[in-house]
Amino acid sequence: MKRAKPTDKPLRGFSGRLVLLGAGKMGSAMLEGWFARGLDPRKLAVLEPHPTKAIQALARRGVAINPRKKNFEASAIVIAVKPQNAPEAMPALGPFVGKSTLALSIMAGRTLAFLQAALPAGTAIVRAMPNTPAAIGRSITVACANPMVSARQRKLASNLLSAIGKVEWAGDEMLMDAVTALSGSGPAYVFLLAEAMASAGIAAGLPPALATRLAHDTVAGSGELLQHSQLSAGTLRENVTSPGGTTAAALDVLLGPGGLEELITKAIAAATRRSRDLAG
Ligand SMILES: NC(=O)c1ccc[n+]([C@@H]2O[C@H](COP(=O)([O-])OP(=O)(O)OC[C@H]3O[C@@H](n4cnc5c(N)ncnc54)[C@H](OP(=O)(O)O)[C@@H]3O)[C@@H](O)[C@H]2O)c1
Repeated sequence: MKRAKPTDKPLRGFSGRLVLLGAGKMGSAMLEGWFARGLDPRKLAVLEPHPTKAIQALARRGVAINPRKKNFEASAIVIAVKPQNAPEAMPALGPFVGKSTLALSIMAGRTLAFLQAALPAGTAIVRAMPNTPAAIGRSITVACANPMVSARQRKLASNLLSAIGKVEWAGDEMLMDAVTALSGSGPAYVFLLAEAMASAGIAAGLPPALATRLAHDTVAGSGELLQHSQLSAGTLRENVTSPGGTTAAALDVLLGPGGLEELITKAIAAATRRSRDLAG
């Protein structure tokens, strides 16, 4: 997959040490982004029980993979294991955590309170929620911090997270459930739209392969247009809609009672509730 080119290399001058816990899909996307942004591989250690060949190969560039000697204090530890693996995985971070270490977690649903309890008292912690377009450097991530995070550590967290896309900060951790429901899970809603459009095209008589190509390219192209246009989503929608035309006929259904807007509102409310329940 092609990664968006970073405009600068904010990690080139990074003089500390970094530890990544979990080099799966998200961890690997972050690694790729950090190197593209100038991180010296010798500054990095990766803790991962089953490193892929690509991760193992990083050892040749100077990355410490599962180092035996744990004799340095990291400037930042980045936690990218599955939330359910956190209790067994996080103790391995202990030797790398000192007074000035920033802990940055991208685990869904693991709260600042959980992280605080799993790390030494007083650790500076950032909890972040990215999404899967991270794989092409196009995540939108929302982060929140505990009171121990300094301005310098917040900047470091922004630099580490902007390696996979855009970063927003939330002043209130309570917002993270709605963030998870909207942007964390959001790519699934968009992929579902592409699937539904393809199925509907087939039902309307198109050959399946053509319907699938049309649906995928329409969703992807519209996303790109939204990204690059100065116009709002609403205006872009109105621009495709002539009164009494074909788009208007479809929008009468989509915007009618029980239509898309109502369904998406219900879906995101359900996901927000689930996120709150899972966090306990
Ligand atoms: N993917 C998303 O859409 C998304 C969006 C937002 C946030 N997140 C969060 O990002 C995190 C990572 O997700 P992912 O999709 O990258 O998952 P993933 O591909 O399963 O990556 C997790 C990695 O952690 C490794 N791991 C397991 N136990 C470990 C341990 N004790 N020590 C070190 N590493 C360990 C796993 O290795 P094995 O495979 O060998 O077990 C795997 O390589 C999750 O917490 C998730 O909530 C994901």
